[in-house]
Amino acid sequence: MKTPKSSNRRPTVLILLFAAVSFGVILISIQSSLFSGSSTVRISKEDLLVLYDFQSRVQQCVANKGLGLTAEIIDHCKLVLKFPEGTNSTWYNAQFKVFEPLEYHYDVCDAILLWEQYRNMTTILTREYLDVRPDGWLDYAAKRIAQLGADKCYNQTLCEEHLNLILPPKAPFYPHQFQRCAVVGNSGDLLKTEFGPEIDGHDAVFRENEAPVNEKYAKYVGLKRDFRLVVRGAARNMIPILDGSDDEVLIIKSVTHRDFNAMIKEIPNPVYLFQGIVLRRGAKGTGMKSIELALSMCDIVNIYGFTVDPGYTEWTRYFSTPRKGHNPLQGRAYYQLLECLGVIRIHSPMRAERKQDWSDVPSKEVIHHAHSVALRLKRDQAGQPYEPGPFGSCKVWGTVGPKGSGPISGSPDMSEKRRNSNYNKWEILPFESLRKEAQEHYFQMGGVSLYKMDGNKLDDLVCVKHSVDKDGQQ
Ligand SMILES: *[C@@H]1O[C@H](CO)[C@@H](O)[C@H](O)[C@H]1NC(C)=O
Ligand SMILES: *[C@@H]1O[C@H](CO)[C@@H](O)[C@H](O)[C@H]1NC(C)=O
Ligand SMILES: *[C@@H]1O[C@H](CO)[C@@H](O)[C@H](O)[C@H]1NC(C)=O
Repeated sequence: MKTPKSSNRRPTVLILLFAAVSFGVILISIQSSLFSGSSTVRISKEDLLVLYDFQSRVQQCVANKGLGLTAEIIDHCKLVLKFPEGTNSTWYNAQFKVFEPLEYHYDVCDAILLWEQYRNMTTILTREYLDVRPDGWLDYAAKRIAQLGADKCYNQTLCEEHLNLILPPKAPFYPHQFQRCAVVGNSGDLLKTEFGPEIDGHDAVFRENEAPVNEKYAKYVGLKRDFRLVVRGAARNMIPILDGSDDEVLIIKSVTHRDFNAMIKEIPNPVYLFQGIVLRRGAKGTGMKSIELALSMCDIVNIYGFTVDPGYTEWTRYFSTPRKGHNPLQGRAYYQLLECLGVIRIHSPMRAERKQDWSDVPSKEVIHHAHSVALRLKRDQAGQPYEPGPFGSCKVWGTVGPKGSGPISGSPDMSEKRRNSNYNKWEILPFESLRKEAQEHYFQMGGVSLYKMDGNKLDDLVCVKHSVDKDGQQ
């Protein structure tokens, strides 16, 4: 791990830091009494300094980014994002009879651990994952199949029949496969700016659900199609939406279903299942999942159409009439946090006029350093040993031979359409044709694919090692 970088470029940050650290030390002693039982967690001054430095950079970034939010540092990990007083919260939660709050509390240490991990993850369900995970076929596979007629896969053959169409043997996509990606949400505010050509200029474009891609909207959302994250409700309309575009990869957000199976047999497009099922507050919704998906393949994730500008109070999709049930303030605050953690770059009508400048986002080096401190801290708190490196969270290990763990997806049940389809474009992609960074990463990881075990927690990973043949190929 690297040693702390001195912040010689930012003397004011340092002064603030020392004030914050002394304050923080008091807080730590209060805090440590909160941890149950015998072990008190001690944090070194250096570590505190690193995290406070990081926090203050995030705070500065939030102030500079112009979404109207301010950040208040609570301690070395906790941060509150606040909307200005008088911000109109137009979203009324009928269930709890409240308007949205104007303040959002975050644990930046947790957030950075979670989101940095995605850069090394596989987020597509594969056969090797089900084979390696202890309860993989029996329990987990059953959770991903609607209408199984049983709570578990007591009969694996039956479950395979449900999943064969969409189950590749190993990860069809690689971390760092693309440099720049665009994730296009469906917000009506896309119609305010002609982002189309800019979106099309990315290495890969991620879209959602029923978002149309055609000449009518081309100047606003572009025409490039690479990935589309879909929920079940969208399955029925997918064929006209794809409009003959065979290459677009569909990723099903939660479970396979009769509607999807019917659709898949009609189209040659590759279709896979997103690897992640427990949806919790703060990270649900198709938008957030698209970001997770993109981050698992892309170095830079630019987002468009996510309704983040202050004063934008409608909820519309760019192609249809208003819809209820979303939480713009909560989402806005979280996206702003993600931007200042270096996870995404937000593009919105408000910013269209300004020169895009990301220099106020903490640098990769600063983020990596904060990440390793946050990880050590977390392990200490849990009373677990700290293992540096990418495999410290691997709870389950498996090994797969050079030939992989089974046939490419769809093969046992190939309709004529699928026989000529494009799914194998990804599944049998020659390793040498991958981007250099993706190849390097693969070798640095020793050919190990990381999958998450459950939900949005990335503490427990399923790690699958691919034995490499003598040419260094998988
Ligand atoms: C909030 O809404 C009220 C009534 O609709 C309006 O008069 C006021 O200008 C709005 N405030 C802001 C900050 O947008
Ligand atoms: C398991 O499912 C397959 C496919 O539906 C079926 O052919 C087979 O008879 C089932 N086996 C048992 C033991 O029920
Ligand atoms: C991600 O992978 C890189 C190797 O490309 C490694 O250096 C880094 O520690 C990993 N990060 C995490 C969070 O596991």
